[in-house]
Amino acid sequence: MISHVRFLLSAALVASAAPAVAAGGTPERPILTTTEAANSAQRPIAFATARPTSGVLVFAVRSKADIDAIAIPGVAAAAATAKFEGKAGKTLSLRGLGGYDRIVLAGAGDKPLSASDLADMGGTVAQEVKGDAAPVAIDLGALGNVDAAQVALGASLGGYRFDRYKTVGKTTPPSQPITIVTAAADAARATWTGDLQYLAQAVTFARDLQTEPANTLYPEEFVARVQAAFRGVRNVRIEVLDEAQMGKLGMGTFLGVGQGSARPSRLLLVHYTGGQGAPIAFVGKGITFDSGGTSIKPAAGMWEMKADMSGAASAVAAVWAIAKRGATANVIGVAALAENMPDGNAQRPGDVVRTMTGKTIEVINTDAEGRLVLTDANEYVVDRYKPAALVNIATLTGAVVRALDDEYAGLFARQEPLAAQLKAAGEAVGEHVWQLPLHDNYYGDMASQIADIRNSTEGGNPGAGFGAHFLQYFVPTSTPWAHIDIAGTNWTSGGLPTAPKGATAFGVRLFDAFVRNFKPVGPDASGGPK
Ligand code: BES
Ligand code: MN
Ligand code: ZN
Repeated sequence: MISHVRFLLSAALVASAAPAVAAGGTPERPILTTTEAANSAQRPIAFATARPTSGVLVFAVRSKADIDAIAIPGVAAAAATAKFEGKAGKTLSLRGLGGYDRIVLAGAGDKPLSASDLADMGGTVAQEVKGDAAPVAIDLGALGNVDAAQVALGASLGGYRFDRYKTVGKTTPPSQPITIVTAAADAARATWTGDLQYLAQAVTFARDLQTEPANTLYPEEFVARVQAAFRGVRNVRIEVLDEAQMGKLGMGTFLGVGQGSARPSRLLLVHYTGGQGAPIAFVGKGITFDSGGTSIKPAAGMWEMKADMSGAASAVAAVWAIAKRGATANVIGVAALAENMPDGNAQRPGDVVRTMTGKTIEVINTDAEGRLVLTDANEYVVDRYKPAALVNIATLTGAVVRALDDEYAGLFARQEPLAAQLKAAGEAVGEHVWQLPLHDNYYGDMASQIADIRNSTEGGNPGAGFGAHFLQYFVPTSTPWAHIDIAGTNWTSGGLPTAPKGATAFGVRLFDAFVRNFKPVGPDASGGPK
C-alpha cells in the first residue's frame, strides 16, 4: 500500500511539475499542484436544548448521582456493574438500552471544569464515536451551565483526520452531526459560529500543513495555501519576500539554509490590523524539510522532519483565527520558510554568513538551521514593524524533547510579565509550557574564532537554552521577546483528547488565548544581547 501511495504521488509530480533541469543546469522551480482528493469533511456541529430519541446518546457525568439521574432504564445498573463513576477522560459504552444505537457515558471528573477540560471531554467523545454512522448527541445537562461551545471545539479537534492520500481501506467518515445538548444552546451556538469554529478550522489548517509531506509542501506551496486560506478575510495584508528580495536586504543567514535545496526559500508575513498600536508578532520556524543539510541527520525518524515547519504553521493559523473572529488587536504571523537539504550548493560546516543587520555567524553545524532562518526573520520584523512583543515558535531542538517530551513546550522569555501571560494562555487552553532559564553566562559557549557568534558547539551545551540564547542575541532588548520550543509538542505519538495521533498544531490555541488577554510589557531591563 505504501508503494502504491508513493507511485501516485510521484505520478502527480511527473504529470504536473517535475523539477526539470534547464539547459544552463539551473533547476526550474515550479509549484506542484496535487491532484489528490481533499481530506474527508468533518462531522458538522450543532446545538439543541432537548436530547433526541434515537442515534448515539452521550451523557457527560461527574458522579454516581449524575448516572442515577439518567432516567433510562438499565443505564444505572450497567454503570454500577462496570464500576463506572464518571472519572475524567473515561467513557463507558452501553448498547441495547432505551431505543438508542448506543449510550455512552463520558466521565467529566469531580473537579471544577475549565474550558480546556470541556474541550478535552468533547474530543474524547468525538474519538469514541468516530465509527458511528448515526447522529450523535452529547447531553451536558448534569454539568449545569457550562461553556458548551468549548465542548464543540474539542469535538471538532478530536475528529481531525488526514486521509487525502489514502486510496485503499479508506473508511467513509460519518456525516451525521454531533449535537451538543444544553439549556444554553443559543449562547453556545453564537460563541461557536462567531468565534470558536474559526479556532477549530485554524487548528485543522495548521495540522494539514504539518502532516503534508515535503514533496507536496515546500516554501512556495506553503505560501500558496496561506494565500488561499486568507482570501477574502478582512483587514489582512499578506507580504511575501522571495529570494531576490531577501538577497537585496542582505538576509544571508536565511538564504544560506535553503541554498542546497531545489525549492526556493520564502519569508511570509500575514498582517492583521484590527486594533490600535504596535503589533504582536508570532515568528515561526518554517523548515518544510530538515535533512540536516551537509551535517546530515541519521535515517531513523528523519521523515518526522517534514513537520519542521510546525511553528510557522501555528503562527499563521493563529492569525487566521484571530482575523476571522475580528479581534480588536494588531497581529503579525510570520513564516520563515526554507528546505534544508544537502547538495553541491549546500552550505558547509564552517561557512560564515551575514544577517540583515550585518552581524556574522559561523555555521558550525548546518543542522542548527532553524535559528538561522529565524534570525533574519526576527531582524526584519523588529526593523520594519517594531512589535509590542515578538514571540518565536519553533521545533528548534532535540534537547527540549529530551527534557520535556511532548507534555510541555519549552518557554524562554526576557520579561517575566510576558512569560506569565504565555504560561497563563497555555494553561487556559491545555497547551502547557515550562519555563527554562536564560542566563548571560550561557553566551560563553557562543563565541566564534572568526565571526561574531557561532550557531552551535560540537555538543555538550544546554541545547534548548543555547538555541534560545542564539535567537535573543539578535533581538534588541527594547523588543519584548519570548521563544517557545515546540520540538516535542508539535506531534503526539500517543494521541490526546483534542488531537488524534500525529500533528497537534500546538500554539494556535495558546496564541489565540494570549491575544485575547494581552497586556503590553515594558522593554527589558537586563539580559539580552551583549
Ligand atoms: N529540527 C531540529 C530539531 C528537532 C529534533 C525537532 C527532533 C523535532 C524533533 C533542529 O533543526 C535540529 O536539528 N536541531 C539540532 C541542533 C544541533 C545540531 C545544535 C538538535 O537539536 O540536535
Ligand atoms: Mn536541524
Ligand atoms: Zn530543524
